[in-house]
Amino acid sequence: RRPIFFSRHGQSEYNQLGKIGGDSVLTAHGEEYATALAEWVDKEVKLDSEGKPRPARLWTSSLKRTRLTARHIRHDSICLPNGTEWVQMRPKMHRNLDEIYAGLCDGMTYEEIERQYPEEAAARKGDKFEYRYPRGESYTDLISRLEPMAHELERTRETLLVVAHQAILRVLYTYFMGKPREACPDVSIPLNTVIKLTPTVEGCLEERFTLLP
Ligand code: F6P
Repeated sequence: RRPIFFSRHGQSEYNQLGKIGGDSVLTAHGEEYATALAEWVDKEVKLDSEGKPRPARLWTSSLKRTRLTARHIRHDSICLPNGTEWVQMRPKMHRNLDEIYAGLCDGMTYEEIERQYPEEAAARKGDKFEYRYPRGESYTDLISRLEPMAHELERTRETLLVVAHQAILRVLYTYFMGKPREACPDVSIPLNTVIKLTPTVEGCLEERFTLLP
């Protein structure tokens, strides 16, 4: 059964500054990850375990940092056993994959939020799963936003690489691993890492590949 691959975008300027949200571009380190990812995808995503080409799709969010991360991945056309031609890894952009929206706190660091909105920071610490940013979103909102997409992901017959964001991938990962929904805000989804989930009869087999130190 075909695996699903998840990756965060490469390091963004906001990541470097410790700011949340926004729509910043990649740092030099983030660019390095984008290049490394394209090379890795050629070997590990486009080819199956026997080294045969396999049809693969590529989904990104609509934000610059994921599109820039995916941009070096080459679109290849491959011949399927039924004689048709398939163009694989042509990026498809989904707004539903955009990062959790922090509303009033968008563009701030966690320290700035603590200073300017101490009650908000305390409320989030108290219940990160249910907490909704003023004029923004909560993890429960993300679950509703991503539910149709999770079903589509399950139905897709080709291998798929999703290049998205920390909170988004926490929700999708929790769904595919069959973990309780409330666990999602604490799942570790580091930068520079591809997570491969392969469905098995007992659930998903998880592998993690760190492409850059
Ligand atoms: O810091 C990167 C980021 O993707 C932010 O844009 C987002 O608000 C945050 O991670 C989500 O993680 P957490 O829910 O732990 O704040």
